[in-house]
Amino acid sequence: MYEVARVRLINLTKRFGEVKAVDNLNLEAKDKEFVVLLGPSGCGKTTTLRCIAGLEPPDEGEIYIGDRLVNDLDPKDRNVAMVFQSYALYPHMTVFKNLAFPLENFKVPKDEIKRRVQKVAKLLKIENLLDRKPGQLSGGQQQRVALGRAIIREPQAFLMDEPLSNLDAKLRVYMRAELKKLQKEIGVTTIYVTHDQVEAMTMGDRIAILNEGVLQQFAPPTEVYSHPANVFVAGFIGSPPTNFFECTLTPEGVLDAKEFTYPLQKDLLEATETATSNEVILGIRPQDIGVYQEKKAKKNLIKASLYTTEPLGDSMILDLRIGDYIIKAVVNPDFKIEGVKDLWVEFPAEKVYLFDKKTGKALT
Ligand SMILES: Nc1ncnc2c1ncn2[C@@H]1O[C@H](COP(=O)(O)OP(=O)(O)OP(=O)(O)O)[C@@H](O)[C@H]1O
Ligand SMILES: [Mg+2]
Repeated sequence: MYEVARVRLINLTKRFGEVKAVDNLNLEAKDKEFVVLLGPSGCGKTTTLRCIAGLEPPDEGEIYIGDRLVNDLDPKDRNVAMVFQSYALYPHMTVFKNLAFPLENFKVPKDEIKRRVQKVAKLLKIENLLDRKPGQLSGGQQQRVALGRAIIREPQAFLMDEPLSNLDAKLRVYMRAELKKLQKEIGVTTIYVTHDQVEAMTMGDRIAILNEGVLQQFAPPTEVYSHPANVFVAGFIGSPPTNFFECTLTPEGVLDAKEFTYPLQKDLLEATETATSNEVILGIRPQDIGVYQEKKAKKNLIKASLYTTEPLGDSMILDLRIGDYIIKAVVNPDFKIEGVKDLWVEFPAEKVYLFDKKTGKALT
């Protein structure tokens, strides 16, 4: 549709007093790519976006939009559009006026404004709402107008800060798909901030996971799920979260988790060779745990007692106690639990993650 650009951050650092909001961040969103910044509250997502938009001066590092170094450019000259969590539409203006406003500011001729408003309204399916005021729109419709106001300037990149977080759950799921489709249709480079991992997984071409201003992993959704780079990512991506056990590796090649032991087969044992000590963390996703009513001879099973159950309709979460640990396992909704006190669980070797306890880094 128009010229888009990649966005590159090189060694970006931003401090607020003692707090390093963004810590030596290196990141690139390629042409037309949808990059999601994901992480817990306060990890530096908004600050990163504000630095790119020019609303916050970085302490160190470089920001490129296309081939232009933009560090010293005014926000209005950076050619990016930012969509905020609150859409901040002008309540007294019609949808048409709200869309036209950014162009009027740039002194675009009247007939071109009209043409571009029509085009964007068509794209966002809000053509029939142009005469209404924001107060007469649903949350999702308001959201689309806010997006339209960003698109209409035909920026080289979109920056979006939790744009769906004010919508109710059902509308969010709907808008998530709409927004992703729209981004691909327009083909504009997008950096999208969220702390919702489902949103990140479903929308992003690649996900950048941040913690305390530090980039933890930058990879496609399937990669961060199946090959988390460290304990933080393994615990943050996936629901319910990954179960972790602190273990000591014995000279015999067995993980001693105090409450149980876990003999390592060849691949896992080899993976531990790069560990900095014999302190290792074993991780297993709730979906990957095998749960049995009886002890089967051939399997390496661990005894657990049933703590509580969380039926979800299409599946069921079992909360199981293994010594001091309470872990979660996901089973079929028809799993028989009546009168059951003890169960047997299996951690299949091919599903087990191992991490170096000292560094947190993945060994597998
Ligand atoms: N203007 C400011 N002055 C001082 N500290 C700030 C300022 N803006 C952000 N911070 C701090 O910088 C860190 C990162 O904040 P930021 O808003 O980027 O987090 P976030 O990842 O967007 O969080 P959330 O998910 O809650 O929106 C936090 O510790 C925050 O308190
Ligand atoms: Mg924020």
